Amino acid sequence: MLKIALTKGRVEEQAIPLLEACGIDCEPLRNKKRKLVIPLGDDLEVILVKGGDVLTYLNNGVVDLGIVGSDVLDEQQNVGYELLDLKTGVCRFILASLAEYNPDEGRRQTIGTKYPNITKEYFAKQGKDVEIIKIEGSVELAPLIGLADAIVDITETGTTLRENNLKIFDWLRPISTRLVVNPLALKQKRNEIFPLVNKMKATIEEREAAKKEA
Ligand code: PRP
Repeated sequence: MLKIALTKGRVEEQAIPLLEACGIDCEPLRNKKRKLVIPLGDDLEVILVKGGDVLTYLNNGVVDLGIVGSDVLDEQQNVGYELLDLKTGVCRFILASLAEYNPDEGRRQTIGTKYPNITKEYFAKQGKDVEIIKIEGSVELAPLIGLADAIVDITETGTTLRENNLKIFDWLRPISTRLVVNPLALKQKRNEIFPLVNKMKATIEEREAAKKEA
């Protein structure tokens, strides 16, 4: 039995069709209601968690695998443990603000973000010292109500930015969903993990090839 920590919400929604394309029946996951531990057949058990907690479960050895956005892995400065790019949950980090924002204005700027490490690194590369305000969600509010000069956040469809009259001033690194593994589980359960990983890898390649043809 493999235990897998799956990030709730968007990552979960886009991972389900991929798991189904791998032949895994995800009906119990689609009909989970408020359940947090969801067995998928006899071989797999899904645990639904917040993205920021995936590595905590993994590092404590209570799950074997995790499905999490690379935004979270990058922010947590996770190195290693990554097995596959699922090519789902594709989005991008951006610097955004109101149209009148001037990124090159001389004074020290205030930046709102859920990703302080990524933000710090981004501005440090430009030799800029900024004040970072950590926000837990609805980051787009920060420039709108004067909490910050600009935000570093993720955008997928661009809808949230558009509907809040925010403009993109810079594109940072791309993001996608990743499969991560506990290194000990990789050794001890390799006969279970590798068939699943190989199946996922082949399915991802097929889906990518189909996308290119479309
Ligand atoms: C993320 C992100 C943006 C939104 C962008 O938030 O922080 O707010 O998605 O997506 P879009 O470009 O498709 O509109 P999320 O939905 O994860 O929730 P949050 O507000 O709690 O951070």
